Amino acid sequence: MTQTNPRNIRIFDTTLRDGEQSPGASMNLGEKLEVAHALAALGVDIMEAGFPIASPGDFEAVREIAATIRGPVICGLARCNDGDIDRAWQALQKAERARIHVFLATSAIHREFKLRMTQDEIIARAVSGVQRALAYCDDVEFSAEDAARTEIDFLCRVVEAAIEAGATTINVPDTVGYTTPEEMFQRVQALLNRVPNIDKAIISCHCHDDLGLAVANSLAAVAAGAGQIECTVNGIGERAGNCSLEEVVMAMRTRQDLYGTHTNIKTERLVPTSRLLSKITGLDVQRNKAVVGRNAFAHEAGIHQDGMLKERRTYEIMRPEDVGFAKTDLVLGKHSGRAALADRARELGFQLNGEQLQLVFDQFKILADKKKQIFDGDIIALIQQQIADASNTAWTLVSYSLDSGTDRVPCIELTLRHGDQTFTQRVQQGDGPIDAAFWAVEKIIGIKTECKEFRVRSATIGRDAMGEVNVEVEHEGQTYRGNGASIDSVEATISAILNAINRIVTEKNLRASGRVSPQDA
Ligand code: KIV
Ligand code: ZN
Repeated sequence: MTQTNPRNIRIFDTTLRDGEQSPGASMNLGEKLEVAHALAALGVDIMEAGFPIASPGDFEAVREIAATIRGPVICGLARCNDGDIDRAWQALQKAERARIHVFLATSAIHREFKLRMTQDEIIARAVSGVQRALAYCDDVEFSAEDAARTEIDFLCRVVEAAIEAGATTINVPDTVGYTTPEEMFQRVQALLNRVPNIDKAIISCHCHDDLGLAVANSLAAVAAGAGQIECTVNGIGERAGNCSLEEVVMAMRTRQDLYGTHTNIKTERLVPTSRLLSKITGLDVQRNKAVVGRNAFAHEAGIHQDGMLKERRTYEIMRPEDVGFAKTDLVLGKHSGRAALADRARELGFQLNGEQLQLVFDQFKILADKKKQIFDGDIIALIQQQIADASNTAWTLVSYSLDSGTDRVPCIELTLRHGDQTFTQRVQQGDGPIDAAFWAVEKIIGIKTECKEFRVRSATIGRDAMGEVNVEVEHEGQTYRGNGASIDSVEATISAILNAINRIVTEKNLRASGRVSPQDA
């Protein structure tokens, strides 16, 4: 039997643009850069870094990413108008390889109610947008927004005109997550069969998940001949989200027999990248999420476990290590050295520099004194806590003591460090220890916040597991997230509050220096 070479499918990641539009997922500049480095290490072909005209913060992020990230094509989004396109190019010009992505809605409902434009006007605007972008760079993508609900005859006309104008990628977005796999397949096939110059462009799909079909629709587009998939890590994005990168990539890899495709994604980076994004955005990944959820490879039923012991393929279609889960979860103990910790951190997806490793190792030793067995989850929580502390050096916890109980107003004594100084407050106030911690932090720092969300979960198993706390607080109409981790849940809570307050302080400083807009928090 002759085997044909697999067809390469480009992975266009839009975590930093469409993903970042998802409620509660906004990231600051440093966080976007951290995600951008992780996406480059993951091997995405194209990284949509943002929508430069949207805000000064978006512009700055695209510019920084274009100037520093090497490997993937860096893309900036623009509507089909001169101002957007010029701004996109200003942000992108330092990229090793740049792409301008212009979009314009094409469906009847958008034409009539949003744009108030005729079909001919839409075509003229699309053509002039592509041509203006092309004057800056030769990699231009055109998106027919709401393509999935656009009359097919008109869609074919717009696509032909955009290619004629010079677009080299044509994106077919299912903007509202309305289409089905059968329909998507037919739509891509129709474009391939009916647009005379379609061989001059790559067809891309961009599916939203409102009906839970984004991955299935993207696979259908690929089966019909699309050569690019637009997706996000953990499937984050507007409303129900976008096509999930890890799911669509692993579906193509696991069923290569069916799709005959290949991607450049280093799949063993999927779990670390998913965790990093979840940590930064505070958006948890559900336990049973395909590919990267904590339970994705856990076998509970006895009959499954028995089958797995005899031959893992009885119940396992992918190997956990292929997507970046560690082979074993039980790792280090009291006697483990720095090299072992560095090794483990690397396997978990963290490249620590000498200083970071020392900080994490110091905390690791303290934890190892309290806890016999240290699991991967503990190490991840420790590293992330140290990175958060180091990147937000404004306020850190020195110590606390708490007196609390049933029917008693809690009393907390808290000491914080800021630069070389320490500050102590004793506060007897609040509806329980968490509320008391908020009061004490506010009294010392002088920044008032309202707690909107508070979540605690264990990083690993056992009564001595590290507790991870996520808080969401509001300050002057903006929402800020904070994370903390410790074996002591009150300490983790204080760290999470400080992490959020340090973001507020950083944001205030940046705003004072005129670099970003308030939306960037
Ligand atoms: O969903 C959508 O239509 C988009 C476009 C801008 C590509 O995000
Ligand atoms: Zn979208």
